[in-house]
Amino acid sequence: MADNNQLNSRDSFSSKFGVIAAAAGSAVGLGNIWRFPYVAGENGGGAFLLLNLAFILAIGVPVMLSELLIGRKAQLNIFGAFRKLAPGKPWYLVGLMGVGAAFMILSFYAVVAGWTLEYSFYALRNEFAGKSAEELSLIFDKLTGATWRPVVFMLIFMAISALIVRSGVKKGIERYTKILMPLLLVIIIGLAIRSLTLEGAYAGLEFLFRPDFSAIDANTVLEALGQAFFSLSLGMGVMATYGSYIKKSESLGQTAISVSLTDTFIAVLAGVAIFPAVFAFGIEPGAGPGLVFVTLPGIFNQMVGGYFFAVFFFVLLVIAALTSSISLLEVVVAYFVEELKMKRPVATWVAAGIMSLLGVLCALNGAIFNLFDKTSSNILLPLGGLFIVIFVGWFLGKRVVKAELEADGRVAFYFKMFVPVIRFLAPIAIALVFLNGIGLLKF
Ligand code: TRP
Repeated sequence: MADNNQLNSRDSFSSKFGVIAAAAGSAVGLGNIWRFPYVAGENGGGAFLLLNLAFILAIGVPVMLSELLIGRKAQLNIFGAFRKLAPGKPWYLVGLMGVGAAFMILSFYAVVAGWTLEYSFYALRNEFAGKSAEELSLIFDKLTGATWRPVVFMLIFMAISALIVRSGVKKGIERYTKILMPLLLVIIIGLAIRSLTLEGAYAGLEFLFRPDFSAIDANTVLEALGQAFFSLSLGMGVMATYGSYIKKSESLGQTAISVSLTDTFIAVLAGVAIFPAVFAFGIEPGAGPGLVFVTLPGIFNQMVGGYFFAVFFFVLLVIAALTSSISLLEVVVAYFVEELKMKRPVATWVAAGIMSLLGVLCALNGAIFNLFDKTSSNILLPLGGLFIVIFVGWFLGKRVVKAELEADGRVAFYFKMFVPVIRFLAPIAIALVFLNGIGLLKF
C-alpha cells in the first residue's frame, strides 16, 4: 500500500478542519451514543451530567491540550515522545500503560461495535417494526446471550479495523467521515425531536437536566470522570499521536476546545434523544449497556420513515465506531512498529489477534466485559491523564509550553490560565476523585 508508514513520515494535516475532523473522529463514537446514556442512566442522570461537564471543562480540555502539546513538540508517538522529551527517565511507562488500556478498551469496544453491526442488519430486515419495549429488550438479550453471533460480529469489526490500520487508508476514511459524521448528527437531531414529542417525554428531560445530588456517591463521581476521559479519547496517547500531525501554524488550544465541544455536544444530544423515550416507553434508565439498543429502535418505530432512519443510523454508528477503533489500534501498532521494530502488517495482526481473543471473553462473559469497561475508563485513563498533566505542568518547563502554545504566532491568551490548571487544579482534582472513588479517601 502507498502509505504504510504514516506514523513515521511526519505527515501533517492539510487544513484546520482536517485536524479537528480526525481528532473528533476518534472522540465521537460509541462513547457518546452508547456509553454516555447508559452510564448516566445508571448514575442518576442530572447530577452525573453536571459532574461530567465540570470534569470535561476543568480536566478534559487541559489534558487534551497537554497531550496534543506533547505530540507536536516531540513529533512522535506517545512512548517515543516521553523518551525524547525525558531521556533516561521512566516517563515512557505512561505510554506503556496507554498500550495496556488500548488492549482493554478495544476488546469490549469491538463487542459493542459488533452489536451495532448486527443491529444494522436487523434494521435492514425491518425486525423492529411494531415491537414493544419488552420485545425489543428481548431482541437485545437474545443477541448478547447467544454464543457465536456476538463473537462473529465482534471479529468482523476487529478485522475491518485491522485492515484499515494495516494499509494506512486513514486519509481516505477522513474524507468520508467529513460527510458521514454530519449526517449522523442530523439523524440524532431527528431522533431527539421525535423523542421530545413523545407522550411522557418531560420526565426524561427532568431526569437528564435536573440534578438530584442525593443520587451521588464516590463511585458516581469517579464514573463521571471516567466517562469524560473515555469520550474525549484521553489518557493513553491517541491525542498525542494526532498532535504530532498538527502543523505549527495551527493553534492547539483552539483544536482542543473545538474537539471537546463537538464531542460533548453530541453526547448531550444523544442523551436528549434517549432519556425522553426511556421514560415514555417505561424502560428502566439504569438498564445498563443495553439501554440504547432497546430505546433507539423504539423511537424509530414511532418515526415517519423510521425504517430508513434506522438503517442509516446503525450503519453510520458502525462507521463512527470505526474511526474511534482505528485510533485505539493505531496506538498499539505504532508502539509495536516503532519500539519493538515489527513490520506494520505483522504488528497490526498481532495486536488485533490478541484483542480478538480478549474480545471473545468480553463477548461471552458480562462480568469480564464490565471489568474491562470500568477498569480502563475509571482507572487507567485518569491515571494516564494525571501523569500527562504533571509531565507538561512540572517537567516540560513553562518556556517550552508557552512556545508550543504560541507557535502559531499569536499570543495564547489562555496560557496564563492553562499553567495553573495543569499544575494544580487538574492533577489535584483527578487525584481526589480517583482516591475517593476507589475508597482510599473518604469525603
Ligand atoms: N472516544 C471514543 C468514543 O467515544 C473511544 C476511544 C477512541 C477512546 N480512542 C480512545 C477512549 C482512547 C479512550 C481512549 O467512542
